[in-house]
Order: sequence, then C-alpha cells, then structure tokens
Amino acid sequence: MGPTLSERLVTWQRQHGRHHLPWQNTRDPYRVWLSEIMLQQTQVSTVLGYYDRFLALWPTVADLAAASLDEVLAQWAGLGYYSRARNLHRCAQAVVSAHGGTFPRQAEVLATLPGIGRSTAAAIAGFCFDERVTILDGNVKRVLTRALNWEGDLSVTRHERWLWDAASLLVPEQGADMPAYTQGLMDLGATVCTPRKPQCLLCPWQPQCLGLQAGRAAELPVKTRK
Ligand code: ADE
Repeated sequence: MGPTLSERLVTWQRQHGRHHLPWQNTRDPYRVWLSEIMLQQTQVSTVLGYYDRFLALWPTVADLAAASLDEVLAQWAGLGYYSRARNLHRCAQAVVSAHGGTFPRQAEVLATLPGIGRSTAAAIAGFCFDERVTILDGNVKRVLTRALNWEGDLSVTRHERWLWDAASLLVPEQGADMPAYTQGLMDLGATVCTPRKPQCLLCPWQPQCLGLQAGRAAELPVKTRK
C-alpha cells in the first residue's frame, strides 16, 4: 500500500504548491474570508491589488462593518459581480452584531453568513481552524471527477451531493494537514489538473488516477445543463 491520495497531495503541496500568496501564512479568518470572496470569480493576479487596498483601509472585520456600503462598492469597482461586495459588507456587519466581532470557527456556522457558501466556509475553517471539512469549488470538482473517473453529471443535484460525500471521505485524518491539503486541492486544479491539457506527468495523484488510467482525464467532468 502506497501513500493515500491525501498524503500524496499534502506532500506535493509542501514541495510544489503555492506558498507566497498574501492570504497564505495567516490564520486570521478575516484575511482568509476576504481573499476567498474576492477569488470566487476573479483571478489571483487581479485580486492582489484589491486585497492589499481593502486591508489597508479596513484592517479588521469591525473596520469593514463600520464603513459605508458606498465606500465598499467604490473600492470593489473593477472586480465585478457586485453582489459579492454587498454580501461582504453584510457579512462583516453580521460578524460584529451576531458574533461579537469574531468569526465563528465551524464551517457549518460560517455557511449561515451572507455570501459564504459551503465551499468557502470549508476553506476558512480548514485554513484557520484545521477543521476536517472539504472544499469543492469548480476546480476541485474537475480534479476529483478525474481522479475517480466519475461520470456523474454535476448539474444533477444528487450527483453533486455524491461528489461532496466522496470529497469528504478524502480529507486527511490529522487536523494539522488541513491547510496544506486544502491549498493542495486548489493548487492542483490551478496548475496541473487544468481544464484542457492536464499535466498528468507532474501530478502527485498520477499513480492512482482512474481517469488517466481510463484515458478520459481531459474529458471530465461531465456537465450537460450548466
Ligand atoms: N482561489 C480560491 N482560494 C484560493 C487560494 N487560497 N489560493 C489561490 N487561489 C485561490
């Protein structure tokens, strides 16, 4: 028996993953949350400048909550998808009014806040608090459907739920590995298991990837309706 998928991913992330993004090497949920919201629909290179400006203007969640919505929208200009900025402001206010200015630590509670879906909640809880919960954004769906050679249709709710369950079974058992594991899933999808020409020779899961073995990696995931 060789290393498990999660062990391979954690080792790979430590050696070959990204380590110098400004929202890494922090366990401050405010910083991690801000980065995850900005990164939901915007690429890293665009987010960098906005992220620094937001933190310079509003170093804590209480500062952001106290800002006016107009100021926040003005600073968001150019990032697009403005509902993210409205929810960002509402979420900051909810953290202050309902949680005493401290982000909740559990993914399940985080996911009740405005603009925080299941995957973003898991990213915050995994990065900051070592909770053993899986992320599952679009990139991770691609990585996992390929690794499992799984042909479920992700536009079908019960199939998507199946993938969440499968992803949950893969998370490492040791809490301390959660930040590297979570970042590893993101890094693998962004740098190796890319949509069109996956670089399987560089992939830590190559020895176990069922999609590669079946010669179908680049064709997954299956999505009919979205
Ligand atoms: N996209 C979403 N979260 C990210 C992160 N932590 N690092 C890089 N890209 C991301």
